[in-house]
Amino acid sequence: MVPDVAIAAESPPLSQTTAEMLRRAMELALHAPSVHNTQPWRWRLCDHAVELHADWNRHLICTDPDRRDLVISCGAALHHLRVVLAGLGSGSSTDRIPDLENSAHLATLHVRPTPPDPHDAELFQAIPRRRTDRRRFSGVPVGAALMQALAVRAGDLGAALHPVTDERARARLDAALAEAAAHQHHTLGYTAELAIWTRRYAGARDGIPADSLPCLGAGPEGSWLSRFPRGRLACIPGEPCDDAGVLMVLATPGDTTLDRLRAGEAASAVLLEATRMNLATLPISQVLEVSHTRRRLRLDILRTPDHPQLIIRAGWAPPNAAELPATPRRRLEAVLMQSD
Ligand SMILES: Cc1cc2nc3c(=O)[nH]c(=O)nc-3n(C[C@H](O)[C@H](O)[C@H](O)COP(=O)(O)O)c2cc1C
Repeated sequence: MVPDVAIAAESPPLSQTTAEMLRRAMELALHAPSVHNTQPWRWRLCDHAVELHADWNRHLICTDPDRRDLVISCGAALHHLRVVLAGLGSGSSTDRIPDLENSAHLATLHVRPTPPDPHDAELFQAIPRRRTDRRRFSGVPVGAALMQALAVRAGDLGAALHPVTDERARARLDAALAEAAAHQHHTLGYTAELAIWTRRYAGARDGIPADSLPCLGAGPEGSWLSRFPRGRLACIPGEPCDDAGVLMVLATPGDTTLDRLRAGEAASAVLLEATRMNLATLPISQVLEVSHTRRRLRLDILRTPDHPQLIIRAGWAPPNAAELPATPRRRLEAVLMQSD
């Protein structure tokens, strides 16, 4: 592989069209999912490259003490950016954790004069379509071949996707989810953070609006939704309660910032691939935010040396389900850092 320095030395100055393409790419990548829709990222436009920085001011200190969700959210934005560039016809390469002196600088994406990765490019159309769906799913199960295709996407980014299909493991996972919810309910500052990010001021471009949260009876049976207050998302008329949604645990070989960043990239790839298949998806992080339920998930439920990072629930929305509204995003100007 050619070192970045050599390419930078030979590169012509950033042309108007490349700069415009990168601005458009950064803007579209803002569609990435993030914990409580905090959008905890910043971009810096450089010479033929975009830097991704964590925005520690948007850290949910009481909900996410390890900053796991924050870094995963940034990883999702990084993967979205790579997919958008590929969709716009540009190749790229990624330097992860490039500056050990600056822990906020999580990655740099370099534009390359190479053809785009076709696997990334095919996810491009799914970016504006993807939504977090917290409603009940239909009783149609997700087939093993589709779950395998999602696992391949995660594997491409160095993560494993473990579907929890065994009944006893699923019951233990439901219990761990309930325990994490109960634990956080008593965690100082947790409910305040929840209120801050679900009751934003009018016109806010972040947080979770009531239109994205199910009203009474519209969500699935179970504890994983108990973190959010009820919203205005309507029930699906006439839909029976047999929700066949599957829970899949995304895990990485280690638990460093780099592993979490990669987990975020893999989460984005799985969510976009699922959207491409017309599956509805919901990321679930509560059980990973509490150290003892995270440990239980790893050692008693998955029984794997891998480190669980995020749960992804997937299923088929009922045929008569209304289209979900998009959650808001901040303007590009609000997340752009000054270039040196
Ligand atoms: C790391 C991470 C953790 C998340 N955890 C949860 C969760 O526990 N429960 C939930 O309902 N949504 C969760 N989400 C989904 C976000 O709330 C959602 O991405 C955000 O509100 C933006 O909405 P959108 O995905 O529809 O664009 C999580 C997303 C990420 C990236």
